[in-house]
Amino acid sequence: LTQPIKAFRCAFLDFVDDPFYVAEAESIRYIADGLLVVENGKIKELGHYQNLQDKYAEVPIIAYPGMLIMPGFIDTHIHFPQTEMIAAYGEQLLEWLNQYVFPTEAKFKDKAYAQKIAAIFLDELIKNGTTTALVFATVHPQSVDAFFEEASRRNLRMIAGKVMMDRNAPNNLSDTAETAYQESKQLIQKWHKKERLLYAVTPRFAITSTPEQLNLAGKLLAEFPDVYLHTHLSENVNEVEWVKQLFPESQGYLDVYDRTGLVGDRSVFAHGVQLTDAEFQRLSKANSAIAFCPTSNLFLGSGLFKLNKAKCVEHPVKLGLGTDVGAGTSFSLLDTATEAYKVAQLQNQKLSPFQALFLATLGGAKALSLEDKIGNFDVGKEADFVVLDLRATPLMALRNSAITPTSLAELAEQAFALIVLGGDRAIHATYIMGEACE
Ligand code: GUN
Ligand code: ZN
Repeated sequence: LTQPIKAFRCAFLDFVDDPFYVAEAESIRYIADGLLVVENGKIKELGHYQNLQDKYAEVPIIAYPGMLIMPGFIDTHIHFPQTEMIAAYGEQLLEWLNQYVFPTEAKFKDKAYAQKIAAIFLDELIKNGTTTALVFATVHPQSVDAFFEEASRRNLRMIAGKVMMDRNAPNNLSDTAETAYQESKQLIQKWHKKERLLYAVTPRFAITSTPEQLNLAGKLLAEFPDVYLHTHLSENVNEVEWVKQLFPESQGYLDVYDRTGLVGDRSVFAHGVQLTDAEFQRLSKANSAIAFCPTSNLFLGSGLFKLNKAKCVEHPVKLGLGTDVGAGTSFSLLDTATEAYKVAQLQNQKLSPFQALFLATLGGAKALSLEDKIGNFDVGKEADFVVLDLRATPLMALRNSAITPTSLAELAEQAFALIVLGGDRAIHATYIMGEACE
């Protein structure tokens, strides 16, 4: 079905290259008075309003004066079933899992319940300007069905998968190596590449899978080479110690996944706080991605992610931002970027506002191997975008009083205030395939 062409007039900011490696002026595209033309949910053209106004004189224009349009934010690691237990007090990773996560995830045996929480979760993502996410469900296949059904109703590009967990977990949340393989396979056949949906093979982490289960996860990846691998890696010191005890023959945590065929160019590893230099280098070589989840790493006391190791020149690792709700404390990738900045500060490193926004958009798309479809406003990409209000609150209006930045430095300053002060309040509207949500 074809839809009429439409156009949006606003200021636009997106990335055409990586500002960690290329001068910022060359990595960003900023158009103070631009026109974004959308046809059938995809980007037909982006340019200066002046240059395009005659060409599209007949096309209806939706104008957002004083606002800023950016590509939709991309969350490279989050758990939809943990929505309701966000802000759980007092524990670090392993105790936090036992005390809060496992009892909550047990509720997702009930499909109707999973559906209800999936709807709340997706509404929360949209409210925060997040248009694509890589999502953990629970061990129950019906939790994946519920999630994808709700994502499909909203026409969202989402990646998710059933948790695989066959040891060191409560009985009511455990599968077996074989049932995890069979159920995951059925879910891949049912959902992968259906509409905008994609599947991720999702062993929870090395602690909760037998070697046999990890091997079967590797078999799935070999059988379906374009599905993702999504798991946790080297988050917490006690976790890393336990993994070494469980897999004494392995060289280290990452090697456990490597030996079972799980370290490839569509693998996304959450956290990586405790990675060794050799492990960073291996991830670089394998073209795997890390989801940097600063609000979670601080909340659980896991540690400070070494941003400079991931984004180094010699061994670059694909990197995105993850909220990791419910260990993360916000659904907002702006809030998450603020905490990423603070994590860098604590290590005497700098995360510039453009670098942070890159991670939340094109960087995330690259981490998810989706840069041909989303992440910036290149022609032909899917028109998922967010309308940002840089003066959404009285304080933001005071801080960002100059309406139009006249230099890169001024734009950077406004963008930084947006990141630090914005949160969900700065999200004026979210568009999916050129259609406004709600
Ligand atoms: N490691 C294994 N499972 C989890 C989880 O649910 N959250 C986080 N943050 N780390 C994990
Ligand atoms: Zn997680």
